[in-house]
Amino acid sequence: MSGQHTPLASVVILISGRGANLQAIIDQVGTGRLALDIRSVISNRPDAPGLQRARDAGLATLVIDQRAYADRPQFDAALMRAIDPHAPRLVILAGFMRILGDAFIRHYAGRLINIHPSLLPAFKGLNTHARALEAGVKQHGASVHFVTPEVDGGPVIAQATVPVLAGDTPETLAERVLGVEQRIYPMAIQWLVAGRVVIDQGRVLLDGSQRPEQGLPLTIQRESNA
Ligand code: GRF
Repeated sequence: MSGQHTPLASVVILISGRGANLQAIIDQVGTGRLALDIRSVISNRPDAPGLQRARDAGLATLVIDQRAYADRPQFDAALMRAIDPHAPRLVILAGFMRILGDAFIRHYAGRLINIHPSLLPAFKGLNTHARALEAGVKQHGASVHFVTPEVDGGPVIAQATVPVLAGDTPETLAERVLGVEQRIYPMAIQWLVAGRVVIDQGRVLLDGSQRPEQGLPLTIQRESNA
């Protein structure tokens, strides 16, 4: 679908850690399925392993160490100064673990997206896998959403579910969820850069309506039964 003539959308990706989601995006760009020009990968932590993944892919990286700034507004302002010269179509949070302030979020309204390891609105915040196990839910998963000032509260663009299995630990469940994160994030990003997504009264429409592709349980189930 993307074709050879699709112009690449400029994006900036923010990370804090391992960078497994960053890697999934890089890999999909590599296959040509995701039409992105990744202008910069920025980490708030100098030791984030994801920085090496970016360098290995030949991408420009930058560290903006939060410890060098007196407060959140100053850190956020430094981040904006680094991002804005790229005029990105999207600012992609990929395991970025620092809460961003309202001014930052407003500045990138409609262009700032995140992946969260739960089926939002369930389990906002941290330690989602342990909390899902504690709650005894049968299904867990991941959500791609627009970032709004309410943490993990913005309109959901895509979700995928995984089963919670007997004997699961937070680690085994996290690994299963990561598998679907790495599939739905590149997919949702491609929808966005292709102009297929609009927000209508707080809900995300894909191609003008709420579409079954936005939730992937059937796809995942079919594959796991195969
Ligand atoms: C992912 O589970 C992501 O959803 C969450 O933190 C984890 C980051 O993983 N926000 P990685 O840095 O992409 O490997």
